[in-house]
Amino acid sequence: MSDRQLAAGIAIGKVVLGWFRLLDDPGAVLIRPSQAIDPYPHYERIRARGKVVPSKLGMLLVSDHELCSAVLRDPAFGVAPNKEIGQPDPGLNGLVNPLEDSFIFRNPPEHGRLRRVVSPLFTPRAMQERQGRVEAIVDEFLDQLAGREEFDLVDEFASRVPIKIICDLLGVPDTAHRRMTAWGTTLAASIDGMGSMAQVRELRSTLRELNDFLAERIKLRRAEPNDDVIGHMLAEGGLTDFELLASSGLLLAAGFETTVNLIGNGVLALLANPSARQRLVDDPSAADNIVEEILRLDPPIQYTARLPLAGAKLAGRDVPAGKVIVLLTAAANRDPAVFPDPHRFDPDRPNAREHLTFSSGVHYCLGAGLARMEGAIALRALFRRFPDLRLSGAVQRRASRAVRGPLHLPVRVTSRQPAAIA
Ligand code: HEM
Repeated sequence: MSDRQLAAGIAIGKVVLGWFRLLDDPGAVLIRPSQAIDPYPHYERIRARGKVVPSKLGMLLVSDHELCSAVLRDPAFGVAPNKEIGQPDPGLNGLVNPLEDSFIFRNPPEHGRLRRVVSPLFTPRAMQERQGRVEAIVDEFLDQLAGREEFDLVDEFASRVPIKIICDLLGVPDTAHRRMTAWGTTLAASIDGMGSMAQVRELRSTLRELNDFLAERIKLRRAEPNDDVIGHMLAEGGLTDFELLASSGLLLAAGFETTVNLIGNGVLALLANPSARQRLVDDPSAADNIVEEILRLDPPIQYTARLPLAGAKLAGRDVPAGKVIVLLTAAANRDPAVFPDPHRFDPDRPNAREHLTFSSGVHYCLGAGLARMEGAIALRALFRRFPDLRLSGAVQRRASRAVRGPLHLPVRVTSRQPAAIA
């Protein structure tokens, strides 16, 4: 596809979207910029219209928990039309896009073949073995804040912890972390779709840098084998260079663009719920359920999509092959049939873990255990270190609708002096 065709497609798309927004189409409204600020009232309007709500943009919207969960687990629905692996998006000039070319965007059996290569690195046992390292990384960044009274919690903590942890796993040196942040922001923004040619060009240049960077890491690991994630993938064998780039890129991008928002959304939720925050500090056993409730109530990933691979039934209606079904998992997490008083933050909610924030079925988040551990350790250590942490300015949200979290979170703390020795 030429750039002229791409630009024309984007321009037509904008006009169509604007037109359907005027008609209050639920799908078009979902993509409105204001949804990035507070999407939850919109989800309730969709819920009020039924279990399956059609949009004139050609998709079906689902907010019902049972139905979202059933579609995610049903092999009749896939993440993409079955296509040959290794055929890059023509609009991206042959670059590997980890979010489109990796196993997150592949149907079985290709999906399983690729996922199995890396899944042994994310078992509960492997995570347990990493716990000490995660605690050390969290403490390292908190130590760097010693003596500071005001800082941006996202820039200086929430984004730095997950990047360091995933880079550690992949064997990526600290010097690359700042570049990673920028790459991650561009990739996350691309999930909403391309809004302009400037965004397409930015995505291409990010992918070019990321592809070159990962190719270099793979080359280095071939010359010097070890047991980091790239080393493990090479030792397993059977992956093409294209697949190695796509899988390592996916782990990098999925590993921090999501967890940064778990920490950011968690800080906001706990600032609004002082008793839960106190419990988190005082009682280590409360941390896990508090993190589940944060993930349920304000998820870093708001929705995903599936399509029937052949004709399928959805809540009794026939849906043709290829029809996009948007699964509003953030809305399903507030389904009153599953979660009583669903908009309330309840640190003791017995079934908080039934949220769909990590998806379900074969694509269930591979890093869920790591993210849960990072969230609990980071939030607990943060509020222990800074018991009086409070907002000191306006929270700036990410512009994305699919990815939700604060971009900047200015906070103030009272710098504590070491206790005097009596
Ligand atoms: C709070 C943090 C996180 C959230 C909310 C999250 C969310 C998700 C979701 C919703 C999916 C599935 C998408 C779908 O079904 O269409 C997914 C898949 C995935 N996630 Fe996460 N994720 C998080 C953290 C992580 C971390 C830390 C990693 C670490 C490597 C990771 C790696 C992956 C991978 C590899 C997949 C693809 C799984 C597959 O397709 O089989 N994620 N994640």
